[in-house]
Amino acid sequence: MTTTVRTRVAIVGAGPAGLVLSHLLASSGIDSVILDQRSRADIEQTIRAGILEQGTVDLLATIDGSRVHTVGQRHDGIELRFEGEGHRIDFPGLAGRSVWLYPQHEALKDLLAARIGAGQDIRFGVTATAVEGADGDRPRIVAVDDAGVPFEVEADFVVGADGSHSVVRKAISGSHGGFFREYPFAWFGILCEAAPSAEELIYSNSPDGFALVSQRSATVQRMYFQCDPTADADALSEAQIWETLQRRVPGTTLVEGRVFQRDVLRFRSFVARDLRRGRVAIVGDAAHTVPPTGAKGMNLAVADVILLARALEALLLRSDEAPLDGWAEAALVRIWKAQHFSWWMTSMLHVAPEASEFDRRRQLGELRSVVSSEAGRTYLAEGYTGWPLG
Ligand code: PHB
Repeated sequence: MTTTVRTRVAIVGAGPAGLVLSHLLASSGIDSVILDQRSRADIEQTIRAGILEQGTVDLLATIDGSRVHTVGQRHDGIELRFEGEGHRIDFPGLAGRSVWLYPQHEALKDLLAARIGAGQDIRFGVTATAVEGADGDRPRIVAVDDAGVPFEVEADFVVGADGSHSVVRKAISGSHGGFFREYPFAWFGILCEAAPSAEELIYSNSPDGFALVSQRSATVQRMYFQCDPTADADALSEAQIWETLQRRVPGTTLVEGRVFQRDVLRFRSFVARDLRRGRVAIVGDAAHTVPPTGAKGMNLAVADVILLARALEALLLRSDEAPLDGWAEAALVRIWKAQHFSWWMTSMLHVAPEASEFDRRRQLGELRSVVSSEAGRTYLAEGYTGWPLG
């Protein structure tokens, strides 16, 4: 006999989307159970991007024990660098908002501690294998625990916050997939022991390709440079890494230090065809992925679940289905804006392997147009700091 666990909302995935959703639901008195294939330690160690929009920060700051305001750092701008010159985009001056640099795994530590402290049922090491009954009012997750024992979670609603290889997505769109675009480049990312090379992020376009100078702390820095998607992270010596980075950020001298972590991040743009079927929905990376250039990933996940939490409150507390019926459409408006923004930042700053001399000069014309126009800088600042949720 298979054990059945009952809850109101069953969530697959204890990443930012799943954890924030459980927090919002709990604030409205709605119970949930979260399943995740990984261990807590694995989740807390996953290295991801670090830029949070003001709206994301405001929400995280309401969570007990959050360190977003103490460990996170407010950034009031970024620099766009091309042809050896830096151009600052002043966020508060242009958009009235800022962003925060707070690495995702730190936000996850806060969220996990707060949810576990509040008695949230989170089951680690559990693999969801299927979701059944989307069209009825008792959807369920079929799962197997870390000892190989099968069980089911039956709920009023099932949410897939289970990342780009989502199992829950299959219950929604079957094999219908979605809309996607591959890019002919990836990012070579490093963590190094060095002091900051700049106070704010530098997004640098150079004839050899893109580089991003980011930060982590007074002693650890995060940097990336455009590379071939098939590149081997171990193939470059430290000297080659620094030579590439210095050449890609012309006009500045980067502070160098021992490289203690390196990875190649392949990227693509993806939006699932359907975000909901009956009583099953997908959010975050399960529903969409963006290239990292626009720093939108986690912010988009949080926006999805803020909207979904409101719709689930209406459904489960007031039997009002209308907000849920409008949820996917409302979420998709923001998702496609973020898709466009991420694609735009990516194509404006990277050098495609097949780029012609025309493409290169057109790209410089585009960068010049953006930085020399207040409207252009404002457009970038609004997109980067995130559009209000309404
Ligand atoms: C990072 O710090 O990891 C980071 C920052 C901005 C991005 C992507 C990654 O656009």
